[in-house]
Amino acid sequence: MEEKKLKAMFFNGSPRKINNTAMMLKSAMKGAEESGAECELINLYDIDFKGCKSCFACKLKNSKTNGVCALRDDLRPILERARQADVLVLGSPVYYSYPTGEMRSFMERLLFPVGTYLYEEVETENGVVRRHVTIRDKVIPTAMILTMNCPEDYMKVIGYPAILEENAKCLADIFGYSETLYAFNTYQFHDYSRYDFNLFSEEDKRRYRDEHFGIDLNNAYELGKRLVEKAREQ
Ligand SMILES: Cc1cc2nc3c(=O)[nH]c(=O)nc-3n(C[C@H](O)[C@H](O)[C@H](O)COP(=O)(O)O)c2cc1C
Repeated sequence: MEEKKLKAMFFNGSPRKINNTAMMLKSAMKGAEESGAECELINLYDIDFKGCKSCFACKLKNSKTNGVCALRDDLRPILERARQADVLVLGSPVYYSYPTGEMRSFMERLLFPVGTYLYEEVETENGVVRRHVTIRDKVIPTAMILTMNCPEDYMKVIGYPAILEENAKCLADIFGYSETLYAFNTYQFHDYSRYDFNLFSEEDKRRYRDEHFGIDLNNAYELGKRLVEKAREQ
């Protein structure tokens, strides 16, 4: 019997569709496709939606929402497909130390209905731990890809890992597994000569891009493959 094709969904939280975040996501998609998944890319800025409106329909006793946000807008059919997906990859530029507002709004709508306000105690190799009850029936491998202007050493100095890894923690809490992949020191403009800046040099940026961005893209490709393989183990 032919094996069921796994479904992987990719969400671009950048307003730009051909730049750093989109390229990372497309590379992850290629890896996922080559691992046999059926892939779909959603550009969040194309969709008319807002974040959670705190209606709590998903937290009602005997709620019928079944993990899909009750709000009826253009995001709803996408959330319905995401609920059926086996792999979820969220990509965003860092805007003022966080994923973009659109990505944050999307995460509220994606995560909150799958989580509950219930907890359970589970035996682990580290003893009994309290864990959120979720309504998913299997682990959904997820990842957050974050691209940023900041160089790697500076992002550590200013405390980005602690802030940014919170996103992966939320994803892991709800979906059971998550990874974070960064692309640092990204090349932002097609033509640096048109812009005012002295925070960085175009030459350094170009050199960094030429030396590192290929590696970042390959890491994204491997991530896509890995997540699909992990989903297949479920
Ligand atoms: C409004 C805005 C805010 C930004 N804030 C940050 C920031 O806080 N830290 C950072 O490292 N880069 C920041 N950046 C740079 C972007 O994160 C970076 O260029 C990213 O790779 C762009 O992704 P894209 O090419 O997919 O659009 C900001 C860019 C914009 C437009």
